[in-house]
Amino acid sequence: MSTEIFEYAPAPESRAIVNIKSDYGLYINGKWVAPHSKKRFASINPSNEEVLSKVSLADSVDIDKAVKAARAAYNKVWAKMPPKERAKYLFRIARLLQERAREFAVLEALDNGKPIRETRDVDVPLAAAHFFYHAGWADKLEYAGFGANPKPHGVVAQIIPWNFPLLMLAWKVAPALATGNTVVLKPAETTPLTALLFAEVCEQAELPAGVVNIITGDGSTGASLVNHKDIDKIAFTGSTEVGKLIAKAISDRGIPATLELGGKGANIVFDDAPIDEAVEGIVNGIFFNQGHVCCAGSRLLLQESIVDEFVEKLQSRMAKIRVGDPLDKNTDLGAINSSAQLAKIKEMSESGSKEGAQIWSAPCSLPTKGYWFAPTIFTGVTQAHRIAREEIFGPVLSVLTFRTPQEAMEKANNTPFGLSAGVWTEKGSKILWAANELKAGVIWANTFNKFDAASPFGGYKESGWGREGGRHGLAAYIKGAR
Ligand code: NAI
Ligand code: MG
Repeated sequence: MSTEIFEYAPAPESRAIVNIKSDYGLYINGKWVAPHSKKRFASINPSNEEVLSKVSLADSVDIDKAVKAARAAYNKVWAKMPPKERAKYLFRIARLLQERAREFAVLEALDNGKPIRETRDVDVPLAAAHFFYHAGWADKLEYAGFGANPKPHGVVAQIIPWNFPLLMLAWKVAPALATGNTVVLKPAETTPLTALLFAEVCEQAELPAGVVNIITGDGSTGASLVNHKDIDKIAFTGSTEVGKLIAKAISDRGIPATLELGGKGANIVFDDAPIDEAVEGIVNGIFFNQGHVCCAGSRLLLQESIVDEFVEKLQSRMAKIRVGDPLDKNTDLGAINSSAQLAKIKEMSESGSKEGAQIWSAPCSLPTKGYWFAPTIFTGVTQAHRIAREEIFGPVLSVLTFRTPQEAMEKANNTPFGLSAGVWTEKGSKILWAANELKAGVIWANTFNKFDAASPFGGYKESGWGREGGRHGLAAYIKGAR
């Protein structure tokens, strides 16, 4: 096995393009306001623990203000506006995201720890694409199959996670606005900065005040938003644990919710698959975004006859993953988002070793400051191991094996989740058969982690309720639609 690595000269992206303020207020009713609690908390750069800024901790008083602003904007302006006029604002936001793409890409890499290559090529262009896509729907909703006069819900509460901060904002805000809803959005506590920059984009687009309100805070802020009595719909992406809390909190209130939760995606490689291509796909499936991906291919299912060859090639490929400075354009794997997430990844990995699986980590030197974890695989994993059942949400792959296609399907489906799966084979008939057998919302064949604004995304079982993206995703923002 060769572990030779080409030496690349550092190619750091300049951070001069971003202008981070020392502190931020809350964006309510088109204005920046101080939080009622007067409390602020730091958002740091997880690659070096530098404090980037202090953001406001919103409480229930601020939430009430934001919901009232969203209600007034809904009643007085947004729901009344002809759909073709609403569309213009979405197009404007989409174009501004493109114009300011580099700024967003650098800021996201700083605040989240993910590599600039991914923010530049994935997060930001996809976020803009979601606004373009939904701008196109805004004046065509009556032809979308939801009846002659589709109606919005009203005020939508949106809570998003830290793994794709700007992209999850776009997945939520774009369809909500296109269908005529107004929004109160809470970004995650470790990655609030691109949402605050997005508030500036709303100002620049001259979006009417109160249509989008951005409220920073922690879990308590999220809970206050969920429990506010005057919201008409909830959209949440995050842990299954909090998803369940939200489902309970609204169970007697009759308001709809979309919940995008965890996953434990199976990436299944049959013995007739093109091995080198599959190795690339498996690497992308688990190491993209440091494995902080709900649809990550975190369980590799290998047909027994190819296990040795495959694992050797995978390890040799993993040894070439460049781990380090997120702002370096050569970096493949950036920092783990927080010390809490790093602790969780370490704890899960220790459980893998304790329960009898064999660990192998790519030989790479990790920076001394910040939160880092080397690309890692476990072989000899069985269905009973925690690392085969629970979401690790980090750059850690569990390798299981199977003999027959039937056994592969049984193992793949033997999970409380059902978000994604991958199938690698040269036979089209096997792909179609497997896609039918697999209980997962998104199934990729001979590729992985492909996203498109027109394609619905969502899961079965504990992976959540509802879909985001495409016509299916629009339905979540229209009263009575499915
Ligand atoms: P989390 O579910 O606690 O956080 C997601 C969002 O929910 C954040 O904005 C947070 O402030 C908010 N929140 C927290 N408690 C809340 C509550 N009681 N009511 C309303 N909102 C609340 O996720 P966390 O703790 O950051 O990560 C824990 C694990 O969850 C990860 O290790 C990973 O396994 C999973 N996760 C899955 C994600 C996905 O995309 N499916 C995203 C983030 C985490
Ligand atoms: Mg941060």
